[in-house]
Amino acid sequence: MYKKIQDTAAWLKARMNSTPETAIILGTGLGHLANEIQVDTAIPYSEIPDFPVSTVEGHQGQLIFGKLGGKEIIAMDGRFHYYEGYTMAQVTFPIRVMSLLGIKTLFVSNAAGGTNPSFRVGDMMIITDHINFMPENPLHGPNIPMGPRFPDMSEAYDSELIDLANTIAAELKIKVRHGVYLGTQGPTYETPAEYRMFAHWGADAVGMSTVPEVIVARHCGIRCFGISIITDLGVHGKIVKVTHEEVQQAARAAQPRMAAIMREMIARS
Ligand code: HPA
Repeated sequence: MYKKIQDTAAWLKARMNSTPETAIILGTGLGHLANEIQVDTAIPYSEIPDFPVSTVEGHQGQLIFGKLGGKEIIAMDGRFHYYEGYTMAQVTFPIRVMSLLGIKTLFVSNAAGGTNPSFRVGDMMIITDHINFMPENPLHGPNIPMGPRFPDMSEAYDSELIDLANTIAAELKIKVRHGVYLGTQGPTYETPAEYRMFAHWGADAVGMSTVPEVIVARHCGIRCFGISIITDLGVHGKIVKVTHEEVQQAARAAQPRMAAIMREMIARS
């Protein structure tokens, strides 16, 4: 596995004209930001050796090298979810490759169901911590020599970046929430009993991504920052049927706020 990661990183390095230290996963809610990138090179995932290929129809995914907020960046336009059938090694392969390319800071976003009773649909939640409720830890198996066998997780989400996000949100007069993100396997949304259980466990929001990428990024020593858009509520008395379309719509509505915070974060971090 490590050899593949190294080979892919070398392949990409030969095609790069920059030395970015910042990466963004353009998850739900960050479509807007993609349009703001001054693209230098965009490489479809299908052309990158050993990269997983997106299963989403009409969106094959690409790795973008360019500039955002005056900073050189790599952006993953399209991410891999465990529920699509990828192994954890595949889901997190791009993170390891980007680490070898010199990435030091990772920005992620996602859509999530709110289990905190004070949350509203459309809220943005700065992720302060996570609970890994996926069926597997991405570090399961022989330790890839990019970090320790037993990585520390006491600060999975960087406290300085969270402070910076709070400052930026206050300056821009954008309301943000804070909370714990619980990652599930999906693809089902939760039953009311599951939402209740997760809330009791200390989760403020539930979603199907982010946790594997952040675990692997931390293994590689990459600082992480994440925001969830609360697209539906898993709160007793407020639970309604959820569709993917409604989730997408709620996420779209939050995009300008999300982009504003992330743009500034990248410029100042
Ligand atoms: N649960 C899991 N994933 C989600 C949800 C949810 O309620 N909303 C958006 N992604």
